[in-house]
Amino acid sequence: MKLKNQKELFQLPEDIHYLNGAYMSPLLRSVEEAGITALIKKRNPTQITPADFFSDAEILRKNFGKLVNCPAEQVAIIPSASYGLTSAIQNLPKDNGTNALVVSDEFPSGYYAIEKWCQNNDKHLKVIKAPESMVGRGQEWNKQIIDSINDDTAVILMSSIHWTDGTLFDLKAIGKKCKAHNALFIVDGTQSVGALAIDVVSCQIDALVCAGYKWLMGPYSIGLAYYSEFLNNGSPLEESWMNRSNAQKFSSLTKYVDDYSIGAGRYNMGEFSNFNLLPMLNAAIEQILKWDPSNIQSYCDQLSQPLVRYLNDNGFWVEVDDYRAKHLFGIVLPEGVDSQLALQKFEENRIFVSVRGKAIRISMHLFNTDKDIASLIRVLKGILTEKR
Ligand SMILES: Cc1ncc(COP(=O)(O)O)c(C=O)c1O
Repeated sequence: MKLKNQKELFQLPEDIHYLNGAYMSPLLRSVEEAGITALIKKRNPTQITPADFFSDAEILRKNFGKLVNCPAEQVAIIPSASYGLTSAIQNLPKDNGTNALVVSDEFPSGYYAIEKWCQNNDKHLKVIKAPESMVGRGQEWNKQIIDSINDDTAVILMSSIHWTDGTLFDLKAIGKKCKAHNALFIVDGTQSVGALAIDVVSCQIDALVCAGYKWLMGPYSIGLAYYSEFLNNGSPLEESWMNRSNAQKFSSLTKYVDDYSIGAGRYNMGEFSNFNLLPMLNAAIEQILKWDPSNIQSYCDQLSQPLVRYLNDNGFWVEVDDYRAKHLFGIVLPEGVDSQLALQKFEENRIFVSVRGKAIRISMHLFNTDKDIASLIRVLKGILTEKR
């Protein structure tokens, strides 16, 4: 299925070019409506029943499971990527290797957690640096990651695509190598899940953690994580009554029990039934399932082609097709072009992008049109003319 532009499902102002979904997605109309309805519902608490504490959460977990290919019970509702990553990291085995691996410039929510785990458990943290050369960079980086995994590797923690420049990582090959060496594989999916297909089974992922406000298109402060069965007996970060096996029996909660809800239920955040945010995230994921992430990638691929051609013909750096996510990618300006000037011109022309490290990060979705891309190319042309 080829998707057409879906701008009418959003309410972005007409006079901006929003190429910054990697910073934060705009809200779908349907998500906004779900939020407003949810807010009004609590005017009258009799409209919220004990069953409501659990039923919408089950639908959300099931829907996320459909997106990443796992059963609902292996999904947990989390407030942030840092929370979800720490839940996995603090349950890592301590006897399966002496090193933890990360890629360079990993997002701090994961980096700090794995750094602390290494300090507390006497492990070495090894950083697999991005290659210096920009030619064949994605391919070489992937090779180095795969070559670095060996019997000394306890765990590798990395983003599903690089969050600053959209480098595509070969998660299937990395997962396979991890399993061959008994290493755990933790993935921060925040910058791709929802816009790029992923399968936790074929990639042999042990934990896939996603903040919800970017490519899952939900509100801020709610996200989702998949934890493999390997983690089913771990310790959660908090002891919410809602994650115990008797939680649905409101009249006898103080008949305390030892056992948790099944699967990854123990890793749900306290008050996971969040009556405002949860229906919003669910509405967003239902829309994403209708679209299908592979169609979102194709749309972004087609939309970005004139831009990529322009960049390649005019001395900018952009990763080659095979190693570049199509919804999010970094570009590096030609030598001698002042990045401050570029940012100023973007601002003057109401083009919204981000600067992350060396790269100007451009990100797009079904709400973007060829007008957004044409404006970006026009401004880049102007910047090159000013340089001459
Ligand atoms: C790769 C990645 N992970 C996680 C986050 C957000 O982390 P947290 O939910 O811990 O604030 C971001 C935000 O930019 C990100 O780019």
